[in-house]
Amino acid sequence: MSEADVSQQRVEVIFPADEIRQRVTALAQQIAAAGLDRLLVVPILKGSFVFAADLIRALHEAGVEPEVDFVTLSSYRKNMRSSGAVEILRDLDLDVDGRNVLIVDDVLDSGRTLVFAKDLLSARGAKRILTCVLLNKKVHRAVQMEADLKAFDCPNEFVVGYGMDVAHRFRELPFVGRVVGG
Ligand code: IMP
Ligand code: MG
Repeated sequence: MSEADVSQQRVEVIFPADEIRQRVTALAQQIAAAGLDRLLVVPILKGSFVFAADLIRALHEAGVEPEVDFVTLSSYRKNMRSSGAVEILRDLDLDVDGRNVLIVDDVLDSGRTLVFAKDLLSARGAKRILTCVLLNKKVHRAVQMEADLKAFDCPNEFVVGYGMDVAHRFRELPFVGRVVGG
């Protein structure tokens, strides 16, 4: 099945599940090759939860035994575009002082979310911080930020699936795509 029909809206595939799987495996091998001891993986919720779940299992296959803790961040959006402010909705439980950290996010767009997360963990004394995103959008960067690792460059349009939503829908899709119709 390549498309999901939900009420009047359909989601057209941009990145199919098998391509995502291949890229996740390759990313895990790159992360393993970095040889970071006591790695703490920090997925930024909610959008990265599916990506992070696949990535940590690929890390296991690559011989890495990470710990995992979550932070929930919100960047205010209007019309599916980021407006600026980022805030912590739910903080980490673990202390990152002296730890190697891999921050995982779904989309790098304006860059504000990833910069906020990196600055936060750095201010708390993280040792080395790597950033890893599923999708890199290139057009709307508001701050200087490039991810250390990325699965795909993404067209400049709003995408859903593989953990990402619009109005809480489509997170369950195993692929990334664009909403059409409705
Ligand atoms: P940034 O702070 O502008 O870089 O935005 C990054 C955050 O916005 C990500 O963590 C996503 O949650 C969200 N985001 C940006 N673009 C999309 C999209 O196309 N679909 C779903 N979420 C998106
Ligand atoms: Mg997000």
